[in-house]
Amino acid sequence: MVELTRTRDSDALSYDVERVRADFPVLSRLVHERKGKPGKPLVYLDSGASAHKPRQVIEAMSRFMEEDYSNIHRGVHFLSQRATDRFDAVRGKVARFLNAPSDNTIVFTRSATEAINLVASSYGRTFLKEGDEVILSVMEHHANIVPWQLLQAEKGIVIKVVPVDDEGVFDLDAYAGLLSDRTKFVAITHCSNVLGTVTPAREIARLAHERGVPVLFDGSQAVVHRPVDVQEIDADFYVFTVHKLYGPTGLGVLYGKYELLKKMPPYQGGGDMIEAVSFEGTTFKLPPTRFEAGTPPITEVIGLGAAIDYVESLGREAIAAHEDDLLKYATQQLSQLEGLRILGTAPGKGPIISFTLDGVHPHDIGTIVDQYGVAIRVGRHCAEPLGERFGVGASARASFGLYNTRAEVDALVSSVRAVKEFFGA
Ligand code: ALA
Repeated sequence: MVELTRTRDSDALSYDVERVRADFPVLSRLVHERKGKPGKPLVYLDSGASAHKPRQVIEAMSRFMEEDYSNIHRGVHFLSQRATDRFDAVRGKVARFLNAPSDNTIVFTRSATEAINLVASSYGRTFLKEGDEVILSVMEHHANIVPWQLLQAEKGIVIKVVPVDDEGVFDLDAYAGLLSDRTKFVAITHCSNVLGTVTPAREIARLAHERGVPVLFDGSQAVVHRPVDVQEIDADFYVFTVHKLYGPTGLGVLYGKYELLKKMPPYQGGGDMIEAVSFEGTTFKLPPTRFEAGTPPITEVIGLGAAIDYVESLGREAIAAHEDDLLKYATQQLSQLEGLRILGTAPGKGPIISFTLDGVHPHDIGTIVDQYGVAIRVGRHCAEPLGERFGVGASARASFGLYNTRAEVDALVSSVRAVKEFFGA
């Protein structure tokens, strides 16, 4: 994304969303079927929490397990070689997806959370010391706060927090003001999972690099919506999770500049990451294998390969244009509801709308719209400091994916109207 690659209006027009929807088996199911009563069509507006999987991903994973499955990097037999080749090929696919300079900058982890923990633990424990400052933003997901707090407790580092303005825009001036000789690391979301705000990644990295400070971006919500180019941003580390990218759970990706990965000690010890083991001492392989202890999520990596093929077959610019259209339409329609407050209206934001409704608890919103088949997320969205910043405990959140439609936005709006009527709000 981001710096947001421009999308073209014509992309939205040529995008055949009905054809896309036909690829997702779950989207044709009904929910809340009861005896004698037909169910409601599923309106899935919770892709920010986890996206559904196209048939292409489901089938690629099943076929792999039926035909080619074996453990990898460990066997001389036919299937092991075959599974290894297929697994290793996906690393290259991910590198191209992020425009990373080489395959060996891509580490497979169990999640984006694990990828951040890996960096905080391996890089942080090795290179940060008491009094060193790490800059985060108030928009961070807990996954990009708590690992640094664990390091704070262990090493006595200091955490500094970049604010956002009332629209949810990242305060670049405040960030520049926080950077100092004490700053030793920066870790910032690329797209907020609550506000949808896209941060100015290239500028964040440029300012940090002027002081020789490495930057990690949490791209879990960003890679899903727009092309991301880690070299253009000049990210030192970039992480994302696969289940939001229409792939399986249990898999995350860490991109790291090779010279940094090479300096970092292992995060976990085990099989495959070693060169030689003895009771006198053990030596480790080079990255990325150094960071992939144990049998990895092999089938899930195959699923990731299929997910990347899928989004690339639709066209990432076309997806972006379609989702921008949904965001604009939903913002316009929801804004007409009295008492509804949208949190985060930053220009160029991703297709995520968090909102509150005067006099109604977000959990009640979520429960009632669900009766109409509309699936949204409610709560604090794993970003409690951001809720405090906006003076709300919890909120409701609709997040759009490549399969959503304007008709589903209408379903959301009319179900929220029903909530208002129910509460007389
Ligand atoms: N991080 C996910 C979300 O935003 C779970 O909902």
